[in-house]
Amino acid sequence: MIQPQQETRPANWVESRINKTSDSLDVAFEQGLTGHVVTGRKPGKVVCLADGTEALEFVSCSYLGLEEHPALVTAAEEALRRFGVHLSTSRNRMRPHYLGELEDLLSTVYRGNKAVPFTSVGTVHLGLLPLLGAGALPSYPIAPGGSTFLVDKTAHSSMQVLRGVLDQIGPARRFDLETPDSLESALREARRDGRTPIVLIDGVGSMGGLIDVAGVLAALAPYQGHLYIDDAHGISVAGRYGAGYAFETLGDQLPLNVVIAGSLSKAFGGSGGFALVPSEDDVRVLRKFANPLVFGHSIMLPLLAANVASARLHLDGEVAALQERLWRNTEVFDELTGNRLVNAGLRSPVRGAHFDTEAAAFRAATALKEAGVLILPAFFPTVAKGTGLIRFALSSLHERGHLETAASILEGVWNG
Ligand SMILES: Cc1ncc(COP(=O)(O)O)c(C=O)c1O
Repeated sequence: MIQPQQETRPANWVESRINKTSDSLDVAFEQGLTGHVVTGRKPGKVVCLADGTEALEFVSCSYLGLEEHPALVTAAEEALRRFGVHLSTSRNRMRPHYLGELEDLLSTVYRGNKAVPFTSVGTVHLGLLPLLGAGALPSYPIAPGGSTFLVDKTAHSSMQVLRGVLDQIGPARRFDLETPDSLESALREARRDGRTPIVLIDGVGSMGGLIDVAGVLAALAPYQGHLYIDDAHGISVAGRYGAGYAFETLGDQLPLNVVIAGSLSKAFGGSGGFALVPSEDDVRVLRKFANPLVFGHSIMLPLLAANVASARLHLDGEVAALQERLWRNTEVFDELTGNRLVNAGLRSPVRGAHFDTEAAAFRAATALKEAGVLILPAFFPTVAKGTGLIRFALSSLHERGHLETAASILEGVWNG
C-alpha cells in the first residue's frame, strides 16, 4: 500500500492503481497458478514447464497458432542468418527491406489503406494519439478550439495510461459505454467547448466483450469527431484476409474519421503493432513525428521477416482456413460448457468463467492446474471487487480433446 505524502492530496494514478490491485494476483503467483516458467513447447498447445511437467495452455493470445507455422519460422531463421539479430537503429535511418514489404502486403490486406508498423501497440498509441489530437494528421481535421479525448472505461490499459500525456494536447476524459448517455453527454460537452472529440475504444475486448464499434461511430457522426479503435485482439481472427473485427464490422473499409491500431504479436503470429490510416500524407507525418518511430528501434529483424511471411499467409487463404478452425473451436467449447461462459456465442476467441468470489476462482484455477491446464486468472480491478475470472484464450490449434478436458474440469468445479 502506498500512502499519499500529504493527507489532503488525492492519490495519483500510480498510487491508486497499486492500492486498488488485489493481493490475489500475488497469491496466484505464489501458488503457481500464473507466471508459469516455460522451457519448451510441443507442436500445438502443449508446453513444457520448468518443473519437468507438460501442460495444455489456454493462455497465449496467438489465436491462430501462426507463430508455429513453418513459413514464419523459416523466414525468421533466414533473416537471422543474413542480418544477425538486429539492425540497431530507428527505421528512419536504416530500413530493413522487410519493412517496406510488410507495409505493401498490409496495404493489400486493408484495401489500399496504409499500415505503419511500430514495435508494439502501446507505441502506436504513444506515437499517434498526440499527433491526432494536435491536428497534425492531414486526414483527421481538428476544430480551431482543439480536441478532447474521450476514453471508454473498458478501453485497454495501454491507452488509459496515456491520459496524462494526452491531457497536454486536449482534455482527456473517461466515459462508460455501458452507462446510457455517458458518451452522448461527453460529446455534447465537447461541442459546447468547440472541440473535436476523439473517442478511444477497444474492438475485441481482451477480457471479454465485443465493442459495438459501428454504434460508436454512428453516435460520433453529428459531432464530426474521430474514432480510435484498439483492435489488438481482433486482428487476423476475423475479416477477409484477416483484416480484423473492427475493419470487417465497419464494412471492410476504413471510414475517413477512423484510425485502427492493430497487433502483429497476437493472432498475427509475429511481433509489433501497426496504425492504419487512409493516406500517404498521414504516413509521412507519422514517420517524421511519431516519437517511437523517430527515437526508437524498429521491430527486431527476424520477427519483421516473420511478419512478412504471416502477411502472405493472410492473403493466400491460409488464414481464412485457420479462422474457420478457431470459430469451430469456440462453438464446440461453448456447447461443452453449456453456453455459461463470458462471451459464449460471440465471435471472440476469448472465453471467461466468472466466479462470485475470489476463493471460487482460486478453486477453479487450482483444479485446472492440477489437471495440467493453464489459464489466466484475473481479479480486481480487471473484474469487480471480490470476484474472479478465469480467462481461456482459444486457438485454432486446440483439439477437441483439449476442449473436452477443460470443459469437464469446469463442470466439476461448477458442480462443487
Ligand atoms: C487490447 C490491447 N491493446 C494493447 C495491448 C498492448 O500491446 P503491446 O504489447 O503490443 O503494446 C494489449 C496487450 O495485451 C491489448 O490486449
